[in-house]
Amino acid sequence: MNVARNFMLLGSVFLIIGIVIGMYMGGSGDHGLSVSHAHINLLCFTLSAVFALTYKTFPAMAEGVLARAHFWLHLVGAVMVNLLLFLMLVNVMTEAAMVPLAPISELLVLLGVLAFGWNVWKNAQ
Ligand code: HEM
Ligand code: HEM
Repeated sequence: MNVARNFMLLGSVFLIIGIVIGMYMGGSGDHGLSVSHAHINLLCFTLSAVFALTYKTFPAMAEGVLARAHFWLHLVGAVMVNLLLFLMLVNVMTEAAMVPLAPISELLVLLGVLAFGWNVWKNAQ
């Protein structure tokens, strides 16, 4: 798996969604999706782009199970976090109903970042 390319592709898809939501908010004057927009753009696009550039800068990091685990954990976790957040903001789901899916998805993102941090420690040189 080309982890750097996959993270950049993932980030680009998220950026398109984030910008569309931003344009909707700007056009409608309804800023109710601001938190969703912020996390799609920052947690999903910006972090994915930073991850992609890091894996490209330190190729040793891109080999092995830590990088692959990080990619899948971030993909699944970030999509779930943002889907739940979006459903809450459009009043389809209450905050209480987000348990236990929300903490699980946050944990997936965190585990991915732990794999990334450990990989930086071991292989970023
Ligand atoms: C054409 C592209 C974009 C449009 C039309 C747009 C539009 C908006 C709008 C209308 C808001 C709500 C402002 C408010 O309620 O005060 C907002 C908030 C925000 N946007 Fe964007 N945005 C765009 C791109 C981006 C990008 C690329 C990023 C980050 C990479 C970003 C990050 C944020 C953040 C973090 C907030 C929340 C700010 C806060 O909580 O004060 N936006 N955006
Ligand atoms: C799983 C990871 C994350 C979770 C669960 C999370 C959760 C939250 C929560 C609960 C809020 C408060 C929302 C509110 O005021 O109603 C928030 C706000 C915010 N977070 Fe996160 N966050 C995460 C990751 C990140 C990351 C990685 C970034 C930036 C790189 C970020 C940037 C922001 C910003 C800019 C705001 C203010 C948004 C606004 O007020 O419109 N978050 N986050």
